[in-house]
Amino acid sequence: MQTKRQKSGKMLIGLPLQGFRRFNTRSQLKKVGSPDGDVGIIGGKAAVAEDERPMAACRLPRRLACTTPTVLAPVLLVGFCALAARPFRGGVIASAHPIASAAALSMLERGGNAVDASVAAAFTLAVVDPAHSGLGGGGFALLHDVRSGQTRVLDFRETAPSGASRDMYLRSGKLEPKLVTDGALAVAVPGAVAGYFAALSSFGTLKPSVVLAPAILAAWRGFPVTPMYQRLAKARLDCLRSNPGAARIFLRPDSDGVPDVPALGTTIRQPELARTLELLAREGPPAFYTGKLARSIASAVKEGGGILTTDDLARFRIVHREPLVGSYRGHRIATMPPPSAGGLTLLQVLGMIELKEPAGLPYDEPNSLHLYAEALRRAFADRAKYLGDPDFVEIPLRTLVSAAHLNELLRTFDPSRATPSNDVLPLPVLPASAERGEKHTTHLSVLDRSGNAVAMTTTINDGFGSCLVVPGTGILLNDEMDDFAASPWQPNLYGLVMGEANSIAPGKRPVSSMAPTIIFQKENPQRAMIVAGAAGGSTIPTSVIQIALHVIDHGTDVAFANGRGRVHHQFQPDELRLERYALDPATIKALEAKGHRVEVRNPWGDAEAVLEDPRTGLRYGGPDPRNEGAALGQD
Ligand code: DON
Repeated sequence: MQTKRQKSGKMLIGLPLQGFRRFNTRSQLKKVGSPDGDVGIIGGKAAVAEDERPMAACRLPRRLACTTPTVLAPVLLVGFCALAARPFRGGVIASAHPIASAAALSMLERGGNAVDASVAAAFTLAVVDPAHSGLGGGGFALLHDVRSGQTRVLDFRETAPSGASRDMYLRSGKLEPKLVTDGALAVAVPGAVAGYFAALSSFGTLKPSVVLAPAILAAWRGFPVTPMYQRLAKARLDCLRSNPGAARIFLRPDSDGVPDVPALGTTIRQPELARTLELLAREGPPAFYTGKLARSIASAVKEGGGILTTDDLARFRIVHREPLVGSYRGHRIATMPPPSAGGLTLLQVLGMIELKEPAGLPYDEPNSLHLYAEALRRAFADRAKYLGDPDFVEIPLRTLVSAAHLNELLRTFDPSRATPSNDVLPLPVLPASAERGEKHTTHLSVLDRSGNAVAMTTTINDGFGSCLVVPGTGILLNDEMDDFAASPWQPNLYGLVMGEANSIAPGKRPVSSMAPTIIFQKENPQRAMIVAGAAGGSTIPTSVIQIALHVIDHGTDVAFANGRGRVHHQFQPDELRLERYALDPATIKALEAKGHRVEVRNPWGDAEAVLEDPRTGLRYGGPDPRNEGAALGQD
């Protein structure tokens, strides 16, 4: 690590690209070596190769930087930058990985805008957080231009290949779950490359070669294996082992030569992905959709028994959509429309809460939690009933967010009793939970110095997607087909139940839970106040809703709002899910007394948010304290 005295009297801590590491305990910190010997903490001392180029990071007061023991500096740096109390006068970014946040910050420092920063972060996340998103995936972005006050929506969601059909995952009439999640048949046509480039060419200011540079560098140099990487690799070990390319890149041989979860601190380098990114920086999306990469992708899928073809890739189009717009307690909200259900769920739940509780209630009051849970139950039932790709099915969107409809949903609300989900929407078969509880997908939130904002959620669906790496390219392909109702009314990977509207058809986009959202300032509705979104499958909208409730109703800062315990209901399975320690025992008892079946789970999801304080104009980062992300900003 290198330090430089700044004119401002502050220290700029220049972090090498690989230098970000975060450890949960001192013993972990001591245990970590750097197997490749070029960077990291070795034998308790910080060591960095001489040739590492410093990346812009965040500024620390000089006294703190000087007194911080060298060995802990990288750890504290990330922690310090992530603190809620640290205001920034310039741009701010929160993402699920410090290297991606640093990439975004470096674009802002070069004079780039929020779009440049978000695209740099997205490409970098494809490298340093390969379990969650990548070139083989897809997603959604809200891009807000502060000058015009316009918010644009980019839909770069994957689509079903032309050879897809309604019952393609049924064998002898029964759903074969592995086919929808592991390997070539699970792969939908990826949209991420088209989406990132469309954002950049329409609204960015920097060249692709500049914006992709941090990702290319990260792919050449590698990133260190963290506890979270280990957890994710372990959860998908069989799937990763089943693809030799994935096993070679993402696993390491154990003493018997069997690919296994790499040791903490192992450097994951991806030279093939670096070359792919270089090709994209030179040639742009045609290389991916009609060129050399398209041919490699189609032949890898064919070889694995899948159906995606070069024609499917050539036909892929991003969609420019209008944001779904609503409000909560006087704050305008722009969020993601279908084919995501996330934005609709968010607006319906906030709408129902506002209708019933015009003044708001304390967060952990059983009656307010009961209303919140009942609103979620009803919103997720609507999702199951109505949601599908809007290019294929008619969705009565205006009706679904109208006060009349929300009042109708609340007609059966009983303040003293939980409504059984089957009374809200009876199902032919009641599903058992199939949810795996990991934190896949990734979200990044950016505000630039002028107040332009980007909320982007991007995914390859399951951890490490389908585990299919396209030989010679480093591209890891998605398993987004699982977001369709592969067998209508049967639960998917997240235990979610969806109906006919979300059944599989060629060229159709599967319904998503992703909810990139911008909540605007009351007095100045062109300026973003909260930019947020989350990972976590079906729990995505609830993570964003809770941030909104904590900041707007309970006056908390954005980092605290993000850290507070999460509470989730998704209609089916009919259970109220709580993060461990989210609520105290008396509150849980009161909810059980109302008839809620309470399920306590390990922390879930990953929300990344930033906020502009309407009173001071200062910006704050709200990275998710459950995970390894970081917020960085400019003075
Ligand atoms: O689009 C969706 O809703 C899912 N593919 C997101 C995947 C996800 O968040 C996985 N997390 N557990």
